[in-house]
Amino acid sequence: MKIAVLKEQAAGEARVAATPETVKKFIGLGAQVAVEAGAGLTASVADADYAAAGASVADRAATVAGADIVLGVQGPDVASIAGANPGAWIVAGLNPFGERARVDAYAAAGYEALAMEFMPRITRAQSMDILSSQSNLSGYKAVLDAASEYGKAFPMMMTAAGTVSAARAFIMGVGVAGLQAIATARRLGAQVSATDVRAATKEQIESLGAKAIFVEKVAGIEGEGSGGYATEMSDEYKAAQAELVSAHIAKQDIVITTALIPGRPAPRLITDAQIASMKPGSVIVDLAVEQGGNVEGAVAGEVVVRHGVKIVGHRNVPSRLATDTSALFSRNLFNFLSAFWDKEKGAPVLDDEIGNAIRLTQGGKVVNERLLG
Ligand code: NAI
Repeated sequence: MKIAVLKEQAAGEARVAATPETVKKFIGLGAQVAVEAGAGLTASVADADYAAAGASVADRAATVAGADIVLGVQGPDVASIAGANPGAWIVAGLNPFGERARVDAYAAAGYEALAMEFMPRITRAQSMDILSSQSNLSGYKAVLDAASEYGKAFPMMMTAAGTVSAARAFIMGVGVAGLQAIATARRLGAQVSATDVRAATKEQIESLGAKAIFVEKVAGIEGEGSGGYATEMSDEYKAAQAELVSAHIAKQDIVITTALIPGRPAPRLITDAQIASMKPGSVIVDLAVEQGGNVEGAVAGEVVVRHGVKIVGHRNVPSRLATDTSALFSRNLFNFLSAFWDKEKGAPVLDDEIGNAIRLTQGGKVVNERLLG
């Protein structure tokens, strides 16, 4: 059983899919691990550290040659893994909807592609969930990005020269990233409020010491679909939400948006008119910018200014904290593969619940129902 760890190919991707810690653990299971030279450099892991953990460090062709499992943060280009074994597993965040042509290419090449972002949200899979591990740090980083773009301080400060007032921060979308954003903004001393469509988040917001801003008295506000994810809301709800947000947002200094609906473009939460109502110098961070954006006028990869308000649209926020996010991502991959490790076969064997959820391709075909539907 040979596991290959590639240097990421996507522009701006600083993470890596294995650390010396997980390399050692895979070897402990009886696997052989090969790491492409330089794979960990942008995440502060030297080749020598992988070698010391027991991996062979080589160029891409030698790393991939004869591999049974190829690990990635993002999916590798199919041509770059041509030497892998027939039927090899590709285990990574494969962006199945956004990179459909690449999924088809994996199928045509006979690989079994496993999309880690399709991991079901069940208790036993929590430690394998890349969306959670990466979103958590994104939520933290979004607040720091906001703080560094903001020309004022977050905490209230009473000084001999006068008082600095606390920043007001509003977090829209209280999933994993939003919860961490609330906690981080509170730690920095901001006055924090937050909103979500899922009614269950109200208590979570309040338990973190923030104020919950919620649409009430509108039918169908539970907002929770399968797997704990949000659903698309009714037009009546959207209108009520827009009105509520308009009144609130004009008083905010910092807004962090994190709202996503799986398999759909991100919901639009902030309009240009609402931005115009904010004070100049305010900062909005749109964490959903790559999925279509929660904020009108946000541009992926840029910080733009509209009506005197900065709108931050960094791409791939987890990559901006590559050392920590790589360590967590790598553990997600190890937790996943080791949970299914069959000692006699010396290889992982998936069960149906998780296998059917994450397997995109098998036997030359695309097999995942979310891609076939
Ligand atoms: P996500 O990244 O899909 O979405 C972020 C947040 O945006 C969600 O809270 C969603 O309700 C909210 N949202 C969507 N549309 C909105 C709108 N129009 N206005 C305001 N907010 C909107 O969600 P994430 O972070 O992946 O978490 C979703 C849920 O899944 C959470 O309850 C989380 O605790 C749960 N979860 C469960 C896991 C498990 O059991 N293994 C693992 C990870 C998360």
